[in-house]
Amino acid sequence: MSRYSRIAGTGGYLPKQVVTNDDLAKRVETSDDWIIERTGIRRRHIAAPEETASSMAEIAARQALEAAAMDPGALDLIILATSSPDRVFPSTACLLQQRLGVRSCAAFDVQAACSGFIFALSIADQYISAGNASRVLVVGTEVNSRSVDWDDRSTCILFGDGAGAVVLEASSELGIMSTHIHSDGHYQDLLYLPNPASNGEGSGNDESRTIRMQGSEVFKVAVNTLGRIVDETLEQNGLQKSDVDWLVPHQANIRIITATAKKLQLPMERVVVTVDEQGNTSSASIPLAFDEAVRDGRIKRGQTVLMEAFGGGFAWGSALLRY
Ligand code: UT7
Repeated sequence: MSRYSRIAGTGGYLPKQVVTNDDLAKRVETSDDWIIERTGIRRRHIAAPEETASSMAEIAARQALEAAAMDPGALDLIILATSSPDRVFPSTACLLQQRLGVRSCAAFDVQAACSGFIFALSIADQYISAGNASRVLVVGTEVNSRSVDWDDRSTCILFGDGAGAVVLEASSELGIMSTHIHSDGHYQDLLYLPNPASNGEGSGNDESRTIRMQGSEVFKVAVNTLGRIVDETLEQNGLQKSDVDWLVPHQANIRIITATAKKLQLPMERVVVTVDEQGNTSSASIPLAFDEAVRDGRIKRGQTVLMEAFGGGFAWGSALLRY
């Protein structure tokens, strides 16, 4: 009998504080019109000083567990994607495990920048389909605001904070159909966050602590690469574009999202868009968007969902699933 990973529950958390484009225009030379036209972003949520990747992850995780009617103690595995961990080590997954009051199940982080959630989902799916785990919590959580140079108008307008989670359960019913992950480290200098604690770039000044991006170069590669991964995903599953009910993309830029929807010949009503309200929450963006569309009733059981992401590394990936 086939063994699938089925999404049993979803959860999400956004910090209370909202920063609008007009707020940013008071600090850097930009405008609401420019940001909306070039990115689709209107506002983003920013974590309070006491909030961290693990504290936000806990709220999203508890929601997902509740939706799955599962006790945290039943989990076999916790996989957490983040590029803004509370500590370099131990993993934020271990911190989350403690917050959930669980002991002994394996818990580890995955770092694949904005594609982290897809990479984490892919690993979770391998564990479940191989029979090595039956109940897995997968989380994407980010406090990007702590890594943003708030005086750099080319990046500070883009990012937001938040956390999203899914609980996967082994099932004989169709769930995740396939995942596809890729990386190309040759592009590492186009989008990166230095680590001041390492001996490579640790000058300790502000510039060595903030996100660096050559936006238009990233944009071009992202659009082409996402087009290719959509083809790869459909071909492997023997599906047509018309078989996809929903696209849940990583939320980096509305123009990238629109290009992928066009490639899929999918009307924008079938695309879950949160970038306008949340900005780019990196590895949290897909589980946050998915949770929103499940909770408001857009995505229904039995529908086919395509998730895709692209980000620093470059690292990119997709997941096709029956919800
Ligand atoms: O999630 C991880 C992956 N990341 C992405 O996918 C991000 C991909 N890149 C992007 O989304 C876009 O490249 C940006 C939104 C970051 C930038 O948009 P763009 O259309 O590629 O603009 P650009 O970087 O080519 O800059 C065009 C102009 C420049 O001025 P000049 O040199 O033409 O005079 C910039 O200095 O826009 C200027 N500019 C701004 N102007 C007003 C850059 N940022 C701003 C700003 N407000 N915030």
